[in-house]
Amino acid sequence: MAKLDILRYPDPRLYTRAVPVSMVDDSIRRLVADMAETMYAAPGIGLAATQVDRHIQLIIVDTSEAQNDLQVFINPELIASTGDAEREEGCLSVPGIYDKVHRAEWIRVRALNLDGQPFELEATGLLAICIQHEMDHLLGKVFVQYLSSLKQSRIRNKLKKRLRETL
Ligand code: NI
Repeated sequence: MAKLDILRYPDPRLYTRAVPVSMVDDSIRRLVADMAETMYAAPGIGLAATQVDRHIQLIIVDTSEAQNDLQVFINPELIASTGDAEREEGCLSVPGIYDKVHRAEWIRVRALNLDGQPFELEATGLLAICIQHEMDHLLGKVFVQYLSSLKQSRIRNKLKKRLRETL
């Protein structure tokens, strides 16, 4: 396994739309293992392939307290959603920035697992939020894009300043 580099907002590669995974093979399973290592090391509760510059429809999440329940969604599709939930979100691609975003409260998602088998899952609470956040990455969308343009430009300036300071 290897830790991968995470793209940082506003890196334009984060705006790439991911394409479906055509076959769930060992290269995909290897990528999932690397993404899991990257996510747990960060630490984070979700990661989309987009964030490690692999533009395929693959997300991983682990919202468990003990961080021992990895869930993998390949070619995820939202097939139903309802309700409204507002929660403070963060993102490994936007370090140190947290803000409230509205999402569906309940979702049903369909995806393939690591064996290439289809499954469906219903989720509420943090898991539902996390899945929606990660699925947005596959559409080239970062959560800060839900915020006002004033907030977005402040965040961009803050992150650029921080990047300069670390160079
Ligand atoms: Ni994110």
